[in-house]
Amino acid sequence: MSETGKAVAILGSKGGVGTTTIAANLAATLANEPQRRVLLVDLNLFLGDVGVHLGLEKEPTVMQFLNGSANTDNIDSIPRHRTGFSVLGLASDLSDADDVSAERVVVLMDQMRQHFDVVVFDCGTDLNEVSLTACRYADARIIVTTEQRPALLGAKRRLGVLQKLDIPGQTALGVINRAHPESGIAPSQVEKAVGMPVIARIRNDWQENQAALAAQRLLIEHCPGAGVTRDFTQILRHMRY
Ligand SMILES: Nc1ncnc2c1ncn2[C@@H]1O[C@H](COP(=O)(O)OP(=O)(O)OP(=O)(O)O)[C@@H](O)[C@H]1O
Ligand SMILES: [Mg+2]
Repeated sequence: MSETGKAVAILGSKGGVGTTTIAANLAATLANEPQRRVLLVDLNLFLGDVGVHLGLEKEPTVMQFLNGSANTDNIDSIPRHRTGFSVLGLASDLSDADDVSAERVVVLMDQMRQHFDVVVFDCGTDLNEVSLTACRYADARIIVTTEQRPALLGAKRRLGVLQKLDIPGQTALGVINRAHPESGIAPSQVEKAVGMPVIARIRNDWQENQAALAAQRLLIEHCPGAGVTRDFTQILRHMRY
């Protein structure tokens, strides 16, 4: 394990493409390795619902770290999901979310990298100071898209914005979610349309996702052997953390 953890920012190309599903299931897949300390952070400050997905809405919250009312002394009390990763979620009162500066986001990222091997940030779909700072200072960025045209256009626009941030190395990697076996769209076509490498194609499986959500369970708990669950290992192959 590295001495300083790696940060992975997950950005959606459009609302509802599955950014939170990817972030949460990726965190659980990463945490499958018992020595790896994994943290999932909800940075979708106004609309985030990581806690709802996981059935875990406890303090300390990400806002408490961002506004300084929680600090590294509180790391041990960060709630843990039963699959092994820690979770910094949001409280329902986000009246001060407007005031979060880029500097506070950088401080949070540095604090968390000191204590975890991998920190996964759910950045939502908005391009704002918080999400762009997380993307800029993360070690990797994943843009989640579907195979549909509005999502592909959204991915391309977001990639264009990230390209202006002077990010060292690879600007972003693509993950296709809700892929349909008969879509006739190859990952290479998505790569060409958006202009970024595609590292995973997660199949559309409404039934398993719906049942898992209803039970507030992740795919790895609900259906560990299912194809949609195994698809997440494609992302891991590209992350050497
Ligand atoms: N691979 C998949 N197959 C089928 N359904 C999926 C898949 N991935 C996500 N979903 C479903 O899509 C819906 C939206 O997922 P999710 O909340 O992760 O999206 P989001 O992009 O984070 O949304 P938001 O823009 O609100 O943050 C959920 O009902 C989820 O179960
Ligand atoms: Mg979401």
